[in-house]
Amino acid sequence: MVVASSDNGTKGPDVSQPVIQVEHVSLSFAKEKASMPALVDISLTAYKNEFVAITGPSGCGKSTLLRIIAGLVRPTSGSVKLAGQEITAPRHEIAMIFQTFVLLPWKTSLENVVFGLSTRTDLGEEEKRKISMSALESAGLSGFENVYPSELSGGMKQRVGIARALALQPQILLMDEPFSALDNLTADRLRREIYSLLINPSSTIQTVIMVSHNVEEIVELADRAVVLSPRPGHVVVDMRNELPRPRSKKSEEFLQSVDKLYSYLA
Ligand SMILES: Nc1ncnc2c1ncn2[C@@H]1O[C@H](COP(=O)(O)OP(=O)(O)OP(=O)(O)O)[C@@H](O)[C@H]1O
Ligand SMILES: [Mg+2]
Repeated sequence: MVVASSDNGTKGPDVSQPVIQVEHVSLSFAKEKASMPALVDISLTAYKNEFVAITGPSGCGKSTLLRIIAGLVRPTSGSVKLAGQEITAPRHEIAMIFQTFVLLPWKTSLENVVFGLSTRTDLGEEEKRKISMSALESAGLSGFENVYPSELSGGMKQRVGIARALALQPQILLMDEPFSALDNLTADRLRREIYSLLINPSSTIQTVIMVSHNVEEIVELADRAVVLSPRPGHVVVDMRNELPRPRSKKSEEFLQSVDKLYSYLA
């Protein structure tokens, strides 16, 4: 086991334990009689205790790739494996957070989170409620369980979305531009909280894969950044980020890493 390299006791990626393996994934969308490639021969691995960021220009296929990893879309060729087993449909080990979360307006925060557990037929109502309460607490929403979405700020709605993902007790958390619709302060706070979930031993989350356009956010959070080309997306670079944590956004090394990542996106 590789125990990294950190000044605040966090575990680094364990490269002996691949969790998600994307192998030669390509996807084409049918358009009239032609087939339009969106992703070409993508391979990447996300390990245990790893935070992976995927970035690239608009339309290069980042969201599509995340949906393939989630088992929501099947690739035209290639495969995605979770602990060595091919993903062919959504799996309970994998939860996803979107840019803006669609909440049911007639349900409270708590009811929205409980609703996310609809497929867990193995759990009773009381158990679902308990898990949801604890997920709301982890997402920083204690005291807002009985509030309706119309009474919540944008950041708080996103927290309900996060609670909904946490309630699923996933091993893998996928996030598609989770902070981009939030103001800077809220986004900053949520970034730190999400990262602490990955490194918190009592959390089930072992691996995070985040799609982002925000280069600073990626350098702050990720252990690895994968840059895709313009459509059709292929991997331009798969870059490790070994800056020590906690990462100071003002340090020389931080700014150098930001510049380097920008250069691949330019
Ligand atoms: N269901 C679909 N049918 C046809 N084309 C699609 C479909 N979904 C996505 N596309 C196309 O595939 C390409 C990749 O889309 P995707 O949403 O994955 O890009 P993205 O990298 O997430 O972009 P953005 O940064 O703007 O969110 C785009 O050109 C898009 O128009
Ligand atoms: Mg997208």
